[in-house]
Amino acid sequence: MRWACLVGGTGSNLRALIDDSAPIKLVISHKAGVGALQIAHAAGIAQVVITARQYPTREHYDEALLRVLRDNGIEALVLAGFLRLLTDRVVDAYAGRAINVHPSLLPAFPGLHAVRQALEYGVRVTGVSVHLVDRGLDSGPIIFQEAVPIRPGDTDETLSTRIHEVEHRILPEAVRLLDSHRLDVSGRQVVIREA
Ligand code: GAR
Repeated sequence: MRWACLVGGTGSNLRALIDDSAPIKLVISHKAGVGALQIAHAAGIAQVVITARQYPTREHYDEALLRVLRDNGIEALVLAGFLRLLTDRVVDAYAGRAINVHPSLLPAFPGLHAVRQALEYGVRVTGVSVHLVDRGLDSGPIIFQEAVPIRPGDTDETLSTRIHEVEHRILPEAVRLLDSHRLDVSGRQVVIREA
């Protein structure tokens, strides 16, 4: 399938996907000048920046996003640091074919600053969730989860580093499974089919 990677940050997950030979044909960022765009450029992948400032509403933003996706024949999405909630129109257009990585064990700590939320709450264990995108906030059916224990003295930075290591392993694996049609979804359950 032709994949687009939606980004907005340093792009370490994009790099992991590229290193795993994921079929990323397009990178779309909601922010200009971010590391993810440099990584895409270095890998020879087409990039588009669509900033919120260009559009009066989320609906207008997503119309533009959808147009770019369709113009590029994109069939599946991987959200890796794309810190915008997609409207139903985009979610529905890519239902079952959009994956998000989130730095917590969902349903704990959805939304922004999940690592900081976990530290402030004082949980002993947090982690990574890789899930299908649905109409809610970080609420779609879960493909993979992996725990990351919190150590005494952890900061946002030290904990994020260990979380990223997990993300870089399990996000490309989830993309590979969806790309090879090995994910079956039944209600909230995702079943991985044998190769
Ligand atoms: C990742 O840790 C990802 O889980 C998080 O943004 C980071 C992007 O890092 N996403 C969210 O918080 C989504 N709610 P990267 O730009 O280095 O891949």
